[in-house]
Amino acid sequence: LVHSVNAEQESGPVGGADLYLDLRGPGLRAGLMNALREAIRTARLAPGSRLPSSRALGADLGIARNTVVQAYSELTAEGWLTAQQGAETRVALLTVDVVPAATPPARAINTRHVHDLRPGRPDLSAFPRTEWIRAARRAISRAPDDAFGYAGPLGRPELRAALAEYLARTRGVRAHPDRVVICSGAAHGFALLAQVLRRQGVEEIAVEAYGLDPHRRLLTAEGLRTRPVPLDGQGAQIGHLEDLPRAGAVLLTPSHQFPTGVALHPDRRAAVVDWARRTDGLVIEDDYDGEFRYDRHPIGAVQGLDSEHIAYVGTTSKSLAPGLRLGWLVLPERLVDAVAAVKGDNDLTSGVIDQLTMAEFIESGAYDRHVRAMRLRYRNRRDQLVDALATHSPESRVTGITAGLHMLVELPSGNESAVVQGSAWQDLAMYGLAEFRHPDVPADRDALVIGYGTPSASAWSGALDALCRVLP
Ligand SMILES: Cc1ncc(COP(=O)(O)O)c(C=O)c1O
Repeated sequence: LVHSVNAEQESGPVGGADLYLDLRGPGLRAGLMNALREAIRTARLAPGSRLPSSRALGADLGIARNTVVQAYSELTAEGWLTAQQGAETRVALLTVDVVPAATPPARAINTRHVHDLRPGRPDLSAFPRTEWIRAARRAISRAPDDAFGYAGPLGRPELRAALAEYLARTRGVRAHPDRVVICSGAAHGFALLAQVLRRQGVEEIAVEAYGLDPHRRLLTAEGLRTRPVPLDGQGAQIGHLEDLPRAGAVLLTPSHQFPTGVALHPDRRAAVVDWARRTDGLVIEDDYDGEFRYDRHPIGAVQGLDSEHIAYVGTTSKSLAPGLRLGWLVLPERLVDAVAAVKGDNDLTSGVIDQLTMAEFIESGAYDRHVRAMRLRYRNRRDQLVDALATHSPESRVTGITAGLHMLVELPSGNESAVVQGSAWQDLAMYGLAEFRHPDVPADRDALVIGYGTPSASAWSGALDALCRVLP
């Protein structure tokens, strides 16, 4: 039902316009509250604008005045409206951006939300500003003059050496500085590898059935067709690569599958190496959050099993900040020149100042300290999340919690889209698993992908509460 409120009735004008309220929902009060939230969210009711008196609105909508009074008072308690004793009720000056009416709230990914549990970002409030500035000062003071010239295609030798040592020590990567190539984040690394594969005549690349759509699109844009490999409780079903004889490469997140969170089973780690050797295929290992493992037996990179068939991709986007745009490749020997060639002689994608600073940051031990501190912080959040879900949503099942900054919350069948839609009403930005499904793959379960690294320390408990409110 669409009701028209004549805003000029006894309370005077409401933003000078008619207000249309679509009363839907379980009851009159809840329906009215939803309709008012929607009107505020879509800016049909501007911040600060005056609402009709409860009597006028009740009369217009043909509902009891008391229902309107209750709705106003609950929305005031939630922060949507403000009311002073004896004064009129107004729309609060909200801190959230409004969502255009045509956009379903849950998919409005570019708006600022009060609570944000989308995966893909670390806690940006924890960026180690002071340590980074110190490292930058030392690095810039010490750098030879030629460091400020055009960087070569492989990146600054200082950072390549520091990474070779760090990755061997912490991730079991077989790394020599000559094989390390600096790139502008993992995404740039994938694009470079895709270009090399295309030049070698590869037309198809296997990807996990669930993953990041921007990465799939990036591969497609380079001319590769992506073919999904199904996932189960042991990670990607490597045996299915046999069904894809034209796939010359496979992109995997073996340490912590994105987004389902499973670690690739040891048998399958061996199987994918076997596949690569038999077919001369390339495994691209996306180790995007390998620094954050919480179990006692850390899983090393698959690259440690075979450095000649695996291109290892790492990034600072989870461990420091995505805005740095700093990542790295550790390549099979046969690919180093090919990647250097597609990068070009004067690669300008990663600035040398950040490369030198990162090298100093690693060598001084500041990176280890930062990662350790963040690991503790994220593990605490993970534990709080698991406890809260067990209490508030006993029917949901959490998986993928041994590492990283996100977990999968499996919901009772049929609940995913309703919960994601409902989260928008709690000003909670959150993704369902469907967001990550390869287009050729049918939906097989209902789940949420909860990024618990995203909120700042002060926003964390509010986000957790909002999540508990929307779960079934
Ligand atoms: C699966 C996965 N890979 C890689 C990355 C990092 O990408 P980049 O280094 O381009 O920021 C992310 C970040 O969200 C990710 O989720």
